[in-house]
Amino acid sequence: MPDMNGDTASDPNPETAGHRLSAGLTIGGRVVVRYRLEEGSDASATDFVGELIARNDDFLIVDTRTERVKLIRADVIAAKDVPPPASRAGRPHERVSADDLEKLMAKGWEPVERGGLGDWILRAAAGFTGRANSVLPVGDASLPLDKAIDFCERWYAERDLPTIFQVHGEPGFDVTSVPVGDALLERGYLAGGGRDDWDRVLVMTGASAAVPPLTIESAPVVADAALSPEWLLAFGEQRPIVPGATEAVLTGSDGQLFLSIRDEESGRIVALARMAIHVGWAGIFGVWVHPEHRRRGLATTLVSAIAMVARENAMPAIYLQVSADNAPGVDFWRSLGFDVHHEYTYLVQPSA
Ligand SMILES: CC(C)(COP(=O)(O)OP(=O)(O)OC[C@H]1O[C@@H](n2cnc3c(N)ncnc32)[C@H](O)[C@@H]1OP(=O)(O)O)[C@@H](O)C(=O)NCCC(=O)NCCS
Repeated sequence: MPDMNGDTASDPNPETAGHRLSAGLTIGGRVVVRYRLEEGSDASATDFVGELIARNDDFLIVDTRTERVKLIRADVIAAKDVPPPASRAGRPHERVSADDLEKLMAKGWEPVERGGLGDWILRAAAGFTGRANSVLPVGDASLPLDKAIDFCERWYAERDLPTIFQVHGEPGFDVTSVPVGDALLERGYLAGGGRDDWDRVLVMTGASAAVPPLTIESAPVVADAALSPEWLLAFGEQRPIVPGATEAVLTGSDGQLFLSIRDEESGRIVALARMAIHVGWAGIFGVWVHPEHRRRGLATTLVSAIAMVARENAMPAIYLQVSADNAPGVDFWRSLGFDVHHEYTYLVQPSA
């Protein structure tokens, strides 16, 4: 398991301490940096909390709530990744904002190529999954809306991919109420692009502490940090894989585990899931059980195993995404205590 709290060993050499302490931080993630102040200041140190924009050998650039700060690495006393902030009251899986959760989830399913336009994230992975091949229009695009959409259309055309936007809102939201959604519909973009499973996708969250624990009857689960050919083959039974891109996406997060359950007789993998590891959060992807082995508690066992890893590693909150048209899937997640946090739709360019 990767280091879950981001702490790094202390370095006795003050010249290099700031380097070591900030080496593992995630660009685009939320960080807290304890920073040495100049002599003569009222305090000896202060904390900066915000999004890590960039880092090089000499500096860290952090966007705090009020300003962009440039921190000299040699003056960094301690630094670590922290979970997204609370935007409302509730437990960790309830109080995160939809925007922050979307940005976090994008790190759980990294594309092969990640572009940026202001705060917007442009993702491409040779067409493997909507999430890894769509624009995440969160925050400020740094251009007027129409120009920003033009930019995205050119970016995808250069890659021979259709332009797809992943637009989110409250459960049941009206796409025209989101400015980018409204502008895309005006251009003829189609919600779902003709695919029922893309029309509405539910983002569900739950508490790792609320998931039922593994029991003595639970089938044995293997959790592997590496992606095995056998796991990939079983994953390919549920959705088309794109050789190269699929492996890159599945292994592209800062940390992930590949879980599987085998049939005792045949020895074949009959149930699998992928867990993405974040600071304070676990993400669940690709839960699948072979049709002949369903309703025997195998998927529950996988999620129980993920929740156990989450609890042991200070990850109180879990997220997942499930198509609203997958009624059995939604029922399954509800049976384990998960609830809808927000939802999104894919808006697909008309010519695609
Ligand atoms: C959804 C899925 C993973 C469930 O796997 P499973 O091993 O059959 O699930 P479990 O046996 O652990 O079910 C636990 C509970 O979930 C609910 N549930 C599971 N399948 C259900 C279904 N088809 N209809 C209604 N409820 C269902 C039930 O409450 C069930 O408890 P019960 O059997 O005591 O009634 C499986 O059907 C599957 O692989 N589907 C295709 C892929 C998919 O939809 N993945 C999930 C979306 S991300």
